[in-house]
Amino acid sequence: MKLKINASSLNGEISVPGDKSISHRSIMFGSLAKGTTTITHFLRADDCLDTLKIFKQMGVPIHDDGTTITIEGQGLTGLKDPQKTLDVGNSGTTIRLLMGILAGQSFDVTLTGDASIQKRPMNRVMLPLQEMGVAIEGDSETEFPPVVIKGNNKIQAIEYKLPVASAQVKSALLFAALFAKGETTLIEKEKTRNHTEVMIKQFGGEIEVDEKVIRLNGGQEFTGQQVVVPGDISSAAFFIVAGLIIPNSRVVLKNVGLSQTRTGIIDVVKSMGGQIEIVDVDEENESGTIIVESSELVATEISGDIIPRLIDELPIIALLATQAKGTTIIKDAEELRVKETDRIQAVADELSKLGAKIEPTEDGLIIHGGEKLHAGNVTSYGDHRIGMMLQVAALLVEEGDVVLDKSEAVSVSYPNFFEDLDSLMSEV
Ligand code: S3P
Repeated sequence: MKLKINASSLNGEISVPGDKSISHRSIMFGSLAKGTTTITHFLRADDCLDTLKIFKQMGVPIHDDGTTITIEGQGLTGLKDPQKTLDVGNSGTTIRLLMGILAGQSFDVTLTGDASIQKRPMNRVMLPLQEMGVAIEGDSETEFPPVVIKGNNKIQAIEYKLPVASAQVKSALLFAALFAKGETTLIEKEKTRNHTEVMIKQFGGEIEVDEKVIRLNGGQEFTGQQVVVPGDISSAAFFIVAGLIIPNSRVVLKNVGLSQTRTGIIDVVKSMGGQIEIVDVDEENESGTIIVESSELVATEISGDIIPRLIDELPIIALLATQAKGTTIIKDAEELRVKETDRIQAVADELSKLGAKIEPTEDGLIIHGGEKLHAGNVTSYGDHRIGMMLQVAALLVEEGDVVLDKSEAVSVSYPNFFEDLDSLMSEV
């Protein structure tokens, strides 16, 4: 696909699509609760639609009228044998959280996904689940999908220190802990997104969170709820950065989720001198409006406990750093190497093709700002966030073609991304 180039300004307002992490979980909790759950502003993108399809395949009545999704919950152990392999597509959140949920059911099941999923590490979930007594294994004695999970496990509560900072691992173990007798204690390496903990409470469960220590008792019941999904800050991030680096711009992003565990990008933009304002904050729903304007930016260092608060935004933050004065250093982000693709290598290789000065390191990137970007042929590697980052980069290219291979990956999290960008380019 030929990308849009040479944007002279970006102006206007966007209501960003629903949060991907919360959309997945709303289907999961709605299915495991008793009674009816309704979901509005659900993200109808490939990843979340795969989660929805899978719960339907396990016998959960789910109806989508185009505005509201209605789920007739089956209770914690009420899922039915799908009688076939479940395919999560490209979604790491789906496969990992499902492992915890399926550990507590009465049937055997196999989980698989696309070529990217078949290369992603699963021991981080399978090993602690095995410790809890779950019969689960990867393909041919590897840790990779297809993953087979046996039913009727006798699940034991554990105390477990997570060796990686991962909300997916934490969430899978919290789901499994619901089926155990007694109290499970999880100790996080760093604080990660807390949507599972928040939803356990929202659906009437009990969970104790004391900084990085989480305690949960098994044998709880959930009750159906009305879920309103806020906009995804990880999708808003592309337009936050675009508004900052394209001259003469002012971009308004409405109804963006502002969970403290997700707002690292706002802190980084501020530390780089970017003009960013948060208004109309709705404390109860943890959401608000973000306004950005074209800015003079300076380099920064991004490391330590902020990393999980912006892990998915690092590719677009790397682009932001190419437009800042000075050298930006990103470290402690080795998790980027095991995302939908190796995002450290992908960001370095693809932005270099467009003229950026950027070096990959083992656990991050070193970005020398101030280079002008030029035309070139790039690829998303089938990774939605790499694809969208490259489109924002192309807006800075003054002449020639920027051609993106595998642009269709964008539909994994933001099917209307190109249309929303168009709307900002046409408004004056
Ligand atoms: C997610 C957690 C993060 C994030 C992913 C979504 C979630 O992964 O990168 O896009 O919904 O829990 P990790 O928890 O593996 O870091």
